[in-house]
Amino acid sequence: MTIVVPDADGLRRAVELLQGDSVVAFPTETVYGLGAHAFSPAAIAEVYRLKNRPSWNPLIVHVPHVAAARALAEDWPDAANELAAQFWPGPLTLVVRRARHLSAVGPPIETIAVRVPAHEVALSLLEAAGLPLAAPSANRSEGISPTTAEHVRRSLPEVPLILDGGPASWGIESTVVDLTGQTPRLLRPGALGLRALREVTGAIALPEEVADGAQRSSPGMNARHYAPRARVILAEDVSKVEHGDLAGPVAVLSYESVEDFSDDLVAEVLSVDPREYAADLYAALHRLDDAGVGTIIVQAPPETEEWLAVRDRLRRAAAS
Ligand code: TXA
Ligand code: MG
Repeated sequence: MTIVVPDADGLRRAVELLQGDSVVAFPTETVYGLGAHAFSPAAIAEVYRLKNRPSWNPLIVHVPHVAAARALAEDWPDAANELAAQFWPGPLTLVVRRARHLSAVGPPIETIAVRVPAHEVALSLLEAAGLPLAAPSANRSEGISPTTAEHVRRSLPEVPLILDGGPASWGIESTVVDLTGQTPRLLRPGALGLRALREVTGAIALPEEVADGAQRSSPGMNARHYAPRARVILAEDVSKVEHGDLAGPVAVLSYESVEDFSDDLVAEVLSVDPREYAADLYAALHRLDDAGVGTIIVQAPPETEEWLAVRDRLRRAAAS
């Protein structure tokens, strides 16, 4: 395993691996991805093996521009056109019907998830490789998504090459929207907020499990996901949680403006702004894991729509 600078030589090595049906981790604006030629069965099998990812969970295919995305789709609805024009390159994944001549990327389903990432290194890699790249987050299944090259190295030491593009700017995964039905449907809340989406598409259907935190139904949205090794407890009021019976050391993850609780605890205090909070969340969870804490008590963020993606990830991290 090597972490390399994404200069001409680094990209050349990455392309060589990808064209040889191997895998490469690369930066995107959301989180680091584990890239593989989307239509190479050997490369895709390697992604599932390295991540220990359940075979029913499909992968997002990354492409360098809208035309390349359309080429993978059986049809390209108006909403896809409008959303792509507005938000690509960017942290939005569209699920459309897969072009019939292409094989499924993972489980045998008739849809395909596509996105154009807004990251110079990712785009250069896609152009240079000349391949659509399937790329799940570059972490072991159910673990915390990586926002740095070092996170990838520790989670997936077997990956042959990691392109280091510095810390991911959004720090949380893309928003996934299903466009195969009458109304666009949110499958995974993410970096791109609902308000921005609605301005383009009008109404968006929210699956119950996203709206009120019930159990999973869409693929990849199983309850325990994005979880650190430490036990995570979500609390409406961190200062009221009894520590006596919790596995120690006990840490607290809160955000600015929440009152100070105790001095003898390890604490991570994130921003009160949901976008900044999201950008730092996974790195904070990685740090707390590295510090060897046994329990993380997380101050539950406000129940507003702008906190939807963060609350979704925290709820999954806390699911036992
Ligand atoms: O920000 C991101 O989306 C990152 C970066 C690397 O692009 N990737 C990522 O991939 O988060 P992953 O595999 O960790 O999550 C992909 C999500 C899963 O919830 C999966 O079930 C869903 O997208 N998905 C993929 N293909 C789908 C499809 N055809 N239909 C419905 N959901 C799909
Ligand atoms: Mg993931």
